[in-house]
Amino acid sequence: MQISALAIVLAAGKGTRMKSDIPKVMHALAGAPILVHVLAAATAASVDEICVVVGPDMEEVGDIARSVDPKIHVVLQAEQRGTADAVKAAQNAFAGFGGSVIVLYGDTPLLHAETINRIRRELADGADIVVIGFEAKDPTGYGRLLLDERGRLIGIREEKDASAEERAITLCNSGIMGFGSGKTLANLLSRIGNANAKGEFYLTDAVTLAHAGALDTRMLRADASEVLGVNSRAELAQAEATIQHRLRDKVMEEGATLIAPETVFLSHDTKIGKDVVIEPNVFIGPGVVIEDRATVHAFCHFVEAHIGANAEVGPFARLRPGTELGSKTKVGNFVEIKTSEIAEGAKVPHLTYVGDTSVGVRANIGAGTITCNYDGFAKHRTEIGAGAFIGSNSSLVAPVKIGEGAYVGSGSVISKDVPADALALTRAPHEERPGWAARFRKLKKRK
Ligand code: UD1
Ligand code: MG
Repeated sequence: MQISALAIVLAAGKGTRMKSDIPKVMHALAGAPILVHVLAAATAASVDEICVVVGPDMEEVGDIARSVDPKIHVVLQAEQRGTADAVKAAQNAFAGFGGSVIVLYGDTPLLHAETINRIRRELADGADIVVIGFEAKDPTGYGRLLLDERGRLIGIREEKDASAEERAITLCNSGIMGFGSGKTLANLLSRIGNANAKGEFYLTDAVTLAHAGALDTRMLRADASEVLGVNSRAELAQAEATIQHRLRDKVMEEGATLIAPETVFLSHDTKIGKDVVIEPNVFIGPGVVIEDRATVHAFCHFVEAHIGANAEVGPFARLRPGTELGSKTKVGNFVEIKTSEIAEGAKVPHLTYVGDTSVGVRANIGAGTITCNYDGFAKHRTEIGAGAFIGSNSSLVAPVKIGEGAYVGSGSVISKDVPADALALTRAPHEERPGWAARFRKLKKRK
């Protein structure tokens, strides 16, 4: 049986190096705040409780945590006095907790749930403290893991307090740490001081104290890329690249073809079915589902859109929030759609704006059709019935209904409802002046 676990996510740091007006953990990675990725790993590892530590003026960070799961506790660290002090801010949540406690950093979004589970297994095996270490190419800035001659973890030395010899160590502290029980953690925290180069309360001192107290301290290794901390815009871009790589691999694994995977950008929640083909240079924002066998041609941009099975979209199509494309629909080049349902088999092949509209099954929307949905104050709906045919270059002035099977003549401006099976057109009458062009040219030449 698995021992219950509580995760404490430290997110009170200011993130000065981001040079940003918003807290670091709110910056987006694959369309979701950095913090959401950490919470997702904790959730996927089935921890029983999560507690997020935020700093002053970080209400929005708390809101993000609660939007992931309303049961997440949010606690305030009033003053940033170090990682041990931050964990202490969550003391009420863990002091009486019977299971193990895992400390995660809010700015380490690439962590796998499996790594949390490895910590949990090690704790279940009797460890009092488990630290995730990694081999750093450049260890500058990290705490160094101190091992005894038998390779057991005996302490962590922060860079600023390290001797030249210790600085040469490349095995570093990722910051992710597990404690056998809330009681063990509370006891160690109460003994951590701030007599160090930074004058901060270091959580890492817990390891040295535990070792001195003959507790069982262990180290597990993870890959450096998995424990990357996002501290700067450059590291944010690095994390994005890793996440995109993972997301692309996942959809290909599940049976989608990406012709040039490195040019397709996905979101944390993108769902792509089997035998979907995605051509190069496509951006998929949050909330997109693409059903089986759909084809996405090059240069498309989708956000909060649902693409039905066997649909064909693009090239150069923009699907905005609230787009529902039924199965076998066709949306072609230079088409923008928002808050609209396009029913099965309907076609919007070229140069069209469809907003706040329902398009019935097998309707055909001609090139250059515009739904005029906004009057400067409110949005209005357009309803296009099944099998209707909208001639090219028409404007449908909403609110307006085009009945089933009706025709709209090309170039019309339709502002009244059109009954089923009728033809509506508002075109100016055709005028003809025989020989006019020849006379005009002659006149011009004379001068
Ligand atoms: C910390 C570790 C170091 C490790 C490194 C990995 C300590 C003392 N050092 O150093 O061994 O190699 O992370 O990246 O723990 N935070 C708070 N409140 C605070 C201070 C920090 O919530 O008062 C949060 C930050 O938001 C961040 C995390 O704790 O998520 C780590 O803090 P940071 O200041 O980045 O620690 P490092 O100096 O990088
Ligand atoms: Mg850091």
